[in-house]
Amino acid sequence: MQTIDVMLGRRSYPIHIESGLLNNIPSLLGEVNGDRKWVIISEPKLLDLHGNTLRLNLEGAGFACDVITLEEGEASKNLSVYGSIIERLIELQCDRTSAILALGGGVVGDVSGFVAATFLRGIDYYQIPTTCLGMVDSAIGGKTGVNSPSGKNLVGAVYQPKGVLIDPELLHSLPRGEVQSGLGEVIKYGAIRDKDFFHKVSSWLDDTDAFPFEDAIAQCCTIKAEIISKDEREGSLRRILNFGHTVGHALEAQLGYGTIRHGEAVSYGMKCAGKISCEMGFLSEEEFILLSSTIGKLPLPTLPEIDKTALMKFIRVDKKWENLQLHFVLLKQLGKAVISTAVTEDLIKNSLEVFE
Ligand code: GLY
Repeated sequence: MQTIDVMLGRRSYPIHIESGLLNNIPSLLGEVNGDRKWVIISEPKLLDLHGNTLRLNLEGAGFACDVITLEEGEASKNLSVYGSIIERLIELQCDRTSAILALGGGVVGDVSGFVAATFLRGIDYYQIPTTCLGMVDSAIGGKTGVNSPSGKNLVGAVYQPKGVLIDPELLHSLPRGEVQSGLGEVIKYGAIRDKDFFHKVSSWLDDTDAFPFEDAIAQCCTIKAEIISKDEREGSLRRILNFGHTVGHALEAQLGYGTIRHGEAVSYGMKCAGKISCEMGFLSEEEFILLSSTIGKLPLPTLPEIDKTALMKFIRVDKKWENLQLHFVLLKQLGKAVISTAVTEDLIKNSLEVFE
């Protein structure tokens, strides 16, 4: 088992990664069990695939365990679902010693984390990500929350889990496209922080059937843990994790959430950011071509014709604006990201030609 620590003083926590780890959760959590109640929050399909076995294993090992089910998908990430989970925790007589196990992808993780952050002013929770994106990104870092009718993630908290438990074998139960869409985020980590890793990922992508997920996930977690440990609240360094996200989020919003997967939209966004980096004289032409061709190894969906003016409107409402300045993540070179407040709308508009 590989263990990577997120170092945040008293709020530090481990990320454990191992194929088959799901079966070892009772022993991993044995030390922190005591008399507490455990609540698995998950989706129906995931409960059938993994959650019911997890519950049986936990109960077999003497854990008191309940389950709360969320409907699958982004539609569950709202204040009304959040409120109903809180009510259910009260019905289940949970108290301040109770702990949540968030078994799922980004939606389950974000909602469960926000419930944990706020129920009785904060209880323990553990992330058990089931998607590639969850394993390399959304389960780590403590950003939790729900959407409001006015926009995504407008209500939330930074509240760290007590641990992240990753079993890469769970990826086998996902549709191939779902897993591959998470690989855009894997490329991102190499591009922003680790050139050698970028080159490795690029060559691994030549044969996606043999992609070494466990090693790739471990390296992404190492990079994310290092960044979170240095800048938990996104004052500076943590912003680089948004590489590809300014255009990516706008693309998701314009095409309609669920039309394109997050990882796919970010992949297109990274191409745009790479092009801007090149135009602004940061990234060499050669490295931009390498970035683009690596992203090109992913089976990205063909985009419909994009209304560039409409897309720019979504970019203007993006949360990465502060004091009327857009903080855009660029690459100085592969493996080195920089934040720029000098990216103009024209540069962004021109970069959208990478969609064609
Ligand atoms: N929960 C994802 C993050 O904190 O980055």
